[in-house]
Amino acid sequence: MAATDLQPDSGYSWHLLGDIDILKSKPCRKVFMQGGTVLALFYVAPDRFFLTNASCPHARGPLDQGDIEEVDGAVGIVCPLHYYRFDLKTGTSSSGLVLKTYRTEIRDNCLHVLTPLPVSLNREGNEMQK
Ligand code: FES
Repeated sequence: MAATDLQPDSGYSWHLLGDIDILKSKPCRKVFMQGGTVLALFYVAPDRFFLTNASCPHARGPLDQGDIEEVDGAVGIVCPLHYYRFDLKTGTSSSGLVLKTYRTEIRDNCLHVLTPLPVSLNREGNEMQK
């Protein structure tokens, strides 16, 4: 079994989100998970994608409107409300609050994400964009 087949989060499965050439066109976009949770997909050139909850764990600030920062190779998002910074890979912050993050993986030029429910680039839940 390849390392990428492991699913550490019980009940999670891999979902196809879209063609990476389309997803690379924006540094951040909203992703909609079935059931209503809104996620944020961050793109950092040349080929890194990070998926997190879109609401800040502090006071629900819109992280998809935050600034992406890279410090010593670690990529973070700065919440636009109170400027807490969250590591986009681990979700950790110096505040002690932890942002929910989800694994991402590029396969065959498409981005796959490990989430508990199917995801879509639009609220209607239409299939992937390719
Ligand atoms: S709401 Fe994000 S830091 Fe306060």
